[in-house]
Amino acid sequence: MTDEDLLSRLLHRPRLKLERKKSYDDMSLSLYDSAHSLDGRSGWETPVFSIKDSFDPNPMVTEAWEALCRSQVYFRGNPVGTIAACDPASEEVLNYDQVFVRDFVPSALAFLMKGEPEIVKNFLLKTLHIQGQEKRIDSFKLGDGAMPASFKVLHNPIKKTDTIIADFGESAIGRVAPVDSGFWWIILLRAYTKSTGDHSLAERPECQKGMRLILSLCLAEGFDTFPTLLCADGCSMIDRRMGVYGYPIEIQALFFMTLRSALSMLKHDSEGKEFMDKIVKRLNALSFHMRSYFWLDLQQLNDIYRYKTEEYSHTAVNKFNVIPESIPDWIFDFMPLRGGYFVGNVGPAHMDFRWFALGNCIAILSSLATTEQSNAIMDLIESRWEELVGEMPLKICYPAMDSHEWRIVTGCDPKNTRWSYHNGGSWPVLLWLLTAASIKTGRPQIARRAIDLAEARLLKDGWPEYYDGKSGRFIGKQARKFQTGSTAGYLVAKMMMDDPTHVGMISMEEEKHLKPPLRRSSSWT
Ligand code: GLC
Repeated sequence: MTDEDLLSRLLHRPRLKLERKKSYDDMSLSLYDSAHSLDGRSGWETPVFSIKDSFDPNPMVTEAWEALCRSQVYFRGNPVGTIAACDPASEEVLNYDQVFVRDFVPSALAFLMKGEPEIVKNFLLKTLHIQGQEKRIDSFKLGDGAMPASFKVLHNPIKKTDTIIADFGESAIGRVAPVDSGFWWIILLRAYTKSTGDHSLAERPECQKGMRLILSLCLAEGFDTFPTLLCADGCSMIDRRMGVYGYPIEIQALFFMTLRSALSMLKHDSEGKEFMDKIVKRLNALSFHMRSYFWLDLQQLNDIYRYKTEEYSHTAVNKFNVIPESIPDWIFDFMPLRGGYFVGNVGPAHMDFRWFALGNCIAILSSLATTEQSNAIMDLIESRWEELVGEMPLKICYPAMDSHEWRIVTGCDPKNTRWSYHNGGSWPVLLWLLTAASIKTGRPQIARRAIDLAEARLLKDGWPEYYDGKSGRFIGKQARKFQTGSTAGYLVAKMMMDDPTHVGMISMEEEKHLKPPLRRSSSWT
C-alpha cells in the first residue's frame, strides 16, 4: 500500500478505527490483554460496517466479499453457513456443495468481524440440532457428542420445504471421523461470545449440553497412558490417509484450545463444575506433555540424536524409546539455530518430525505454546520462509512424502502425491491462522509479507483451494476454484491487519495457573 493510500484510508476511516490503528502501530500487547477476558467485552468492540462503507480501495477485498456472500447457504430463509466451494467449472461436485464445519470457521470469523453475527448464531444452533440426531455407520451407533463433518440443505421447490442431511463420516471418502468438528464448534461459540458480547447463546441449556456432550467424548477415561487424544487417520483438515493418526499435533492443539474455551463458558452449576474440574486437570497434564515432548529445537534435536534406547523405569530420558536412526535426514538441515516447533506426532517409538501449519498456529493462539515457544515458531517460519511459505502461503505440512514412504503411508493416494494437496501442498485458507499468530506474537510484518504473496495471485487464479509444488507455484492438480476457505481466509487476514483487536476472538493469553514447563532433564528427577 502506498503512503497516499494509507493516508486516504485513515482519513475516511471512522474515528474508532483511527484509534485502533494507532494501537496497532504501537503493537502494544497490553491491548490484547484487555481484549482477552470473557467477562464482558472489556475494552474493544467489533466494528460494524458494510462492504460499501468500508472505503477499502482494494478490489480484491470487494471480490472476496462478493464470493463469500454468494457462498451462503439458507435454511428456511435464514443463512446457516457457507458452501465449501462454488466452482462453476468443476464437473465433479462430490461434497464441496456442503457446509463443512471446519471450513465455516474462517467464514464465521469474517462475518463476526464485519458485524454480522446472525449467520454464525444460526450455524451454531443448526449444527447443535444436528448433533442431537441419532447417527449410525452401518449398524454402529456413534457417540452422542459427535458433530458432523458437513451438512447439506435440500430445497424442495414444489413442496417449498427445506431439509438437512448431515454427514458424520458415514458418506465421507474413507469414512473418516470428523474429530475436529466438535472442537471447532466450541471454539466458534467462544469467538461469537467474545465478538458480540452476547453471553446468552452460550448460556442456553442446549448449548451447555452440547458442550458437555463433546467434552464427554474427549475426556472419557480409557486405557490411555498419555493426556493427548488418541485419533484415527484423516480425522481433521487432512481428511485422508496421511500418517496423521495416533496423537497428531492438529488435534492436540485444537483439543487444548477447546478445553480452555469450554472452561470460560461452562456454567458453574453441578454438571458444569464436574467438567471444569476434569478440564483443569487435563489442561495441566496436556500442556506439560506437549511443551516437553512435542517441542523440538536444535538443542532438543541434538538430545534425541544422542538418545540411548531400551531404557526401563522412571529414570528413562528417552521415555518413548525413539530410535535415533529413525530421525529423517531432512531435519538436520531444516532446523535453524534459532527457532523451533511442535512436531507432528509423538507416541511409542514414534516421532513424526513433520511441521504442520495449523497445529503450530493454534498452539500459539491458544497459548499451548509458551511465549518463548511462540516466538521460536515464528523465528522458524521466518528462517525457513522458502520451504514453508514459498510463493503461496501456507504449506499444510513440511516436507512432502515421496516414493516408498508415500506408497506405504498414503496407500498410493493419487491426490496426495508429493507437494500436492495434503502432502506438502500450499493452502491459502491457512493465511488467517498465520496472520493471527503473527499479530499475537507482535510480528505483523510476517503476515504482511504473506498477504502480499497471496494478493499477487489469489484473485487472478480464481481463489483455488490449494497450490502444488515445492514453492507452491502451481494451482493444485485437483483444486477447486472459488474455494470459500480461500476467500474467507484472505478476508479474515485483511481485517485482522486492519484492526488487530479482532485477534482476541480466536486467541488466549497464557494461563498463569498452568504449571510452568519443566525442562526434559528436570521432568524425570
Ligand atoms: C477437503 C479438505 C478438508 C475440507 C473439505 C471441504 O476434503 O481436505 O479439509 O474440509 O475438502 O473443503
